[in-house]
Amino acid sequence: MVLKVEKLTKAFGGLTAVNNVNLQVEEGSIQAIIGPNGAGKSTFFNLISGFHLPSSGKIIFKGKDITKLPPNKIAKLRIARTFQTTNLFENATVLDNVVIGNRLRTKSGVFDAIFRTKREIREEKESMEKAFEALRFVELTHLADQSIGSITQEQKKRVAIALALATDPELVLLDEPAAGINPDETDGLAALIKKMAKSGLTVCLIEHKMSMIMSLADRIMVLNQGERIAEGTPEEIRNNPVVIEAYLGSEEDESSKTTSV
Ligand SMILES: Nc1ncnc2c1ncn2[C@@H]1O[C@H](COP(=O)(O)OP(=O)(O)OP(=O)(O)O)[C@@H](O)[C@H]1O
Ligand SMILES: [Mg+2]
Repeated sequence: MVLKVEKLTKAFGGLTAVNNVNLQVEEGSIQAIIGPNGAGKSTFFNLISGFHLPSSGKIIFKGKDITKLPPNKIAKLRIARTFQTTNLFENATVLDNVVIGNRLRTKSGVFDAIFRTKREIREEKESMEKAFEALRFVELTHLADQSIGSITQEQKKRVAIALALATDPELVLLDEPAAGINPDETDGLAALIKKMAKSGLTVCLIEHKMSMIMSLADRIMVLNQGERIAEGTPEEIRNNPVVIEAYLGSEEDESSKTTSV
C-alpha cells in the first residue's frame, strides 16, 4: 500500500468535516472518492497534502508518517495535487504556468536568484525540461506559447494536471479534474488519467461525474457527512443500498455544482 490513512478526523469548530476515515491505496491504482457536496472530500485531500492539520488520526505514505508535515515537505516526498478551483496565471503562457509551478517547489534561495548561481541556472533548466515533459504527457506542447486566457476549460484542466506532474510525483490527488467540461472532453481527460496510472503513478480522484468514475476507478470510497459509508470496486459501490440511499439516488448523474477552473 502506497498510502494508508487511519482514523483520520478533522473538525472545524463544531463541524466534523472528516470523521474517523480509513483508506488504503495500492500503488499504481486509481482510487476515487465520491460523495455529496460538503461530504468532506476536498478536506480529505487537504489533510493528505498538509494544507490542514488533522484533529486526530494518521497518514502514512510509503511507510513514513506524514501526518503532521507541512505542504512543502509533503510535496518533496512526491505527493502532488490539483485544486478544485485552479488558480492559473491568466496572462502568462501555458509553459510559464507550468514552469512557475515547478519552480515554487524547487527554487533556490534568494541569494541564488539574485546572483544567478550555477545552481539557479541548473534548476531553471531542469524546471523547463520538467515542464515540457509534463506538457508532452498531457498533450499540450502545441499550446506552450499560448496565454492561459486563450485556451479552453478542458485545456486549463490539463495544464493543472501538468503542474502537478512537473513536480515528478508518485501520488497525485486530483480534485474534480472534469468539473465544468463537456462529455466529449471528459472522455479525453479520463484517458489521460488512465495513462497516468499506466505510467506507474498512483491517482486519487474526487469527481461527481459518475459514469467517468465507474469506468475509471479501480476502487471507490464514498464519503457522506465526513464519514466513510462504503469502499469497494465500482460494481460493489453501484449495488450498495447505503450508497444509493445517501448519494447515487439523490443526485443527478453528471451533476456538479463546482465548475470553476
Ligand atoms: N477551512 C474550513 N473552515 C471551516 N469549515 C470548512 C473548511 N473547509 C471545509 N469546511 C467545511 O467542511 C465540510 C466539508 O467540506 P469539503 O470542501 O471538504 O466538501 P466536499 O466534499 O469537497 O464538497 P464539494 O463536493 O462541494 O466540493 C463543509 O461543511 C465545509 O463547509
Ligand atoms: Mg470539494
